[in-house]
This record gives sequence, structure tokens and C-alpha cells, in this order.
Amino acid sequence: MQYIRFLKAPRFSGNTISALITITSDLGESFMHRDSVVIGTVRYKDGGGAAIARKEFTWKAGMRSLKVEIPVRAGAARGEPVVLQVSTSDSATVDPLLGSGINIMSVWSSPFVLKAGEVGERELVERRLNIGRKMHLSVWEETKNSIALHIWDAGVALVAHMARVLSSTRKPDGPQLGALDTLLQGSQRINVLELGSGCGIVGLALSQLRPNSHVVLSDLPLASEISAKNISSHTEISFCALDWDLPIPLDIAAQRFDLILVADCMYNVDAAPALVNVITTLLRVSPRALLTVAHKHRHESEERFRSLLEVFGIVQVDQALVALGEEDDELETSEIELYTMQLNPEAGG
Ligand SMILES: C[S@@+](CC[C@H](N)C(=O)[O-])C[C@H]1O[C@@H](n2cnc3c(N)ncnc32)[C@H](O)[C@@H]1O
Repeated sequence: MQYIRFLKAPRFSGNTISALITITSDLGESFMHRDSVVIGTVRYKDGGGAAIARKEFTWKAGMRSLKVEIPVRAGAARGEPVVLQVSTSDSATVDPLLGSGINIMSVWSSPFVLKAGEVGERELVERRLNIGRKMHLSVWEETKNSIALHIWDAGVALVAHMARVLSSTRKPDGPQLGALDTLLQGSQRINVLELGSGCGIVGLALSQLRPNSHVVLSDLPLASEISAKNISSHTEISFCALDWDLPIPLDIAAQRFDLILVADCMYNVDAAPALVNVITTLLRVSPRALLTVAHKHRHESEERFRSLLEVFGIVQVDQALVALGEEDDELETSEIELYTMQLNPEAGG
């Protein structure tokens, strides 16, 4: 999957909104290497987001950035805050995650007013995803080059899977994760913990898609601010600082969880023993809990994570491959492995 990002947040001056964008992979290590139309749309922040101005641009293979300049009169928004949406498809005020999905994720700036020099919250942008049943997921991420605080392919794939399972009352088509799917489709209240939750997209989506869930997001303290922004309008979700290298906070260590989620946390093989230690400790308190992992393969060493879990008697119960977006020979394929593991009751470990 490719992500449109702001290198320079939108700024209004001399009847023009200008911004600098790029289109990269989740890790930011490669730029989109095919031509594409890019549409900049200035919309009211509120009131359904009606468009005030729109202009098309061309992203050319080989580009690393693209300047977006859209003419707009200062009085056009009558003093109301606006946002700049940059997308590769017209009409959509939200990206569709289900159906054929998306290959290039749109971006929405933080709100600003049409006054010279005014900018929004420079380092925050919004992603908007349609996760089914007319439900919109809004996730804020940081534009700074911080690993933690933006959206990653594996997290998006897990959200897409949960959305597919929960938007159907029957057995959904496509990849299946038996035990997880059954748990999600059940009506009982579930207690969920996400480890390394970043800006919180996975737990947030679950909380919206399956209301009878209590979700705890957890990550390093640096993720607390963006998580707080993302969960501010949700009641059944909270954030807790949980560093895999430190003792597990007592209130988490004592809780029984039904589901533990881990998305895209295996990239640093050195962190695997600490993460596995946290998971093992939690599963000993909640021996029936499912552990669901979303993993984008980047390096063979990442397999150490799963092998270490197996050493501690945590065995795989289901596995599926989820493709993000439509097949496109010119774009990096985003095939994400999802798997569920559980403490083997016979392991006694
Ligand atoms: C690639 S991001 C994935 C974020 C999120 N799961 C997603 O899919 O969008 C990896 C996350 O692991 C977190 N992380 C790395 N080391 C950690 C540690 N020692 N304790 C807790 N979280 C850690 C990072 O802060 C980051 O949020």
C-alpha cells in the first residue's frame, strides 16, 4: 500500500493554498513508482465536508515530492475552518477499506482557516476509512518521522479483516481466522489488549466495529498523546503506557483478557524476547486468550518472534494471508500474514 503524506503542511497565502506531498510505502523507504493523478480538494471541516476548491496534479514515476497549489479566495469559506484532502480518486470523502479496497491511502490535513500564515496542527494528519455498515474510522497520525505514530500496512490489514468479519452476519468470503472470527462474531463482552498500538488504529477499529468490547491500547509513553486524541470520543477504550522492557503495569498484569493484538511489532528482532516475555506473562494469567498477530514480512529474522513464542508453548491455531487493495504490478504488493496463537494447555510451561 502507498500512503500520501504531507512533507509541508498546507499554508494559505495570496489566494493560494500550497503544500508539499509525497507518496511512499509505510516504512517510507520507497516512493510510488508509477504515474497517477493526484487531486487536491479544499473542504469545509464540518457540515459534510462540502468542497470549496479542487485541482488535479500529476505524480510522475521517479518523483520524490509534488507541490500542490490550489487557488482559493480568502472569503470562500466565510471564516469557517477548512481541510485539504489529497487523494488519487475523486468524489470520496473517505477511503473504502472493504470491497476492492485501496492501493493509495488519501490524507486529510488538520483544520486551518483561510487567513495568511494560518496553518493547522502542523504535525497531525487524518486518515478516514470506511470500515463497513456506513461506519467511518477516523485516525490521526503524526507526520514526523516517528516509527510509532503513523499507520502501517499490517495494522490496516487486520482492520480490514475485522471489518469484513464483522460487517457480515454470515461466514464472510475471503481469508478466515477461525478462532478469532468466532470470538469477534460472538455477542459476549470481550476484554482486549493491544501491544505496540502506535496511533491506535487496530484497537480503535475493533472498539467501533464490535461495541461489546473493552479495549486497552498500549505502547511506549510517546504514543500517549496521539492515542488520547484518537480515543477522545470513544468510551470503551483507554491507553496505558506498557514498555516491553519494563515490568507490566499491575492493573494490566492482573486483568483477564480474551484477546491480545499485535500488529507490525516484529521488525526489530532485538525486541522479540521482551515482547514474547510480556505475551507469555499475560497468557499465563489468561490461558484461554487468543493472540492475534499481523505481520508484513520485511526480513527473515522476524520469524524469531514466532519461534520464541513456540518455545514458551504458544502454538499457532489459524493463519491467513490478506491482500491490501487490488493487484497492481507497478506497486509494491501488500500481502500481510495474520495468525492466531494460543497457550497450548498440554505444554505446562
Ligand atoms: C511499526 S509500529 C506499529 C504500530 C501499530 N501496531 C500499527 O499497526 O499501526 C510498532 C510499535 O511498537 C512500539 N514499540 C516498540 N518498542 C516497544 C517497547 N519496548 N514497548 C512498547 N511498545 C514498543 C512502537 O512504539 C510502535 O508504536
